[in-house]
Amino acid sequence: MADTFKSGLVDQQQVISGTSLRDDEETEILSLRPEILSEYIGQSEVVTTLKIAIEAARKRQEAMDHVLFHGPPGLGKTTLAYIIANEMESRLTTTSGPALEKGGDLIGMLTHLEDGDILFVDEIHRMPKVVEEFLYPAMEDFAVDFVFDKGIHARSHRYRLNHFTLVGATTRVGLLSSPLRDRFGLFRNLDFYAEPELVKIALRSAVLLEVGIDKQAAAELSRRSRGTPRIVNRLLKRVRDYTQVKSDGFITRDIVEAALTLEGVDIMGLTRLDRKYLRTIIEFYSGGPVGIDAIAATLQEETDTLVDVVEPYLLKTGLVVRTASGRKTPAAAYKHMGYSTQGKLF
Ligand code: ADE
Repeated sequence: MADTFKSGLVDQQQVISGTSLRDDEETEILSLRPEILSEYIGQSEVVTTLKIAIEAARKRQEAMDHVLFHGPPGLGKTTLAYIIANEMESRLTTTSGPALEKGGDLIGMLTHLEDGDILFVDEIHRMPKVVEEFLYPAMEDFAVDFVFDKGIHARSHRYRLNHFTLVGATTRVGLLSSPLRDRFGLFRNLDFYAEPELVKIALRSAVLLEVGIDKQAAAELSRRSRGTPRIVNRLLKRVRDYTQVKSDGFITRDIVEAALTLEGVDIMGLTRLDRKYLRTIIEFYSGGPVGIDAIAATLQEETDTLVDVVEPYLLKTGLVVRTASGRKTPAAAYKHMGYSTQGKLF
């Protein structure tokens, strides 16, 4: 499955074949995304690196080097792929690791790329090994090798590709094989955003959504957004609904508190699932250490969801620690969840 966008301009989308958005990537959230680097808030080192790489490639009139972005969901990996396509004035084709089931799926896409095109592969760590092997010569030599017949009759034919840029995104860089990792010229981690950056994003999005908000409200929203722009934008929409129905359409700090409490988002931005995760370790496993599969089984959740979505922010804030023998909840988690260190609820 692939979508191609000329110059990434949203109103000129040229869709080759449909792909559905994840439910956390609603259209309105997409339209809140910055389209060029100068609009991008935060990740300043990544932005500077990209500016240089883009300008150099444009000067040489060449495709930019392949780029890999890694980091937790919602921090801007996809946004940056769109921005690269816009800044390079090139077409963007998007797909994802799990959508590429057979070598043919990838080859079909590669052979349609024009010089300078961007191929964005989300969740690249989930691409099957057989597909990944076609990617090596494509990335390195801009070629695909077709093999006909088997055993001693095997013959191969090399098909030349246009010079494209692969932009890969992954939440699990550790799962990438080293041959694949080594073929990216640029390799950048996206980290959680600091509160002042999230405040700027909230204020920018409020303007785009045509809703009034004051600074204290934007700060409260940011504190509850787990360092993640996508969450700022999603929660901002919930808060906008709340104020338009329950108040005067303006967002104050009280409105943010009331709306987000209703959403199950607490003062640190933890969701119901985050709190269930912490409660499970504290109550079921006496604070750990406990293996992730045991936690997932108790919660009846996918291990991948816990590792990719729930744990990164809890690890970052020190509400959970990962040790060789498993996950543990330190005193800060007991305190935040309202337990004494013996595990009793206050
Ligand atoms: N919207 C979502 N992420 C953003 C970012 N990093 N900068 C500006 N607006 C955004």
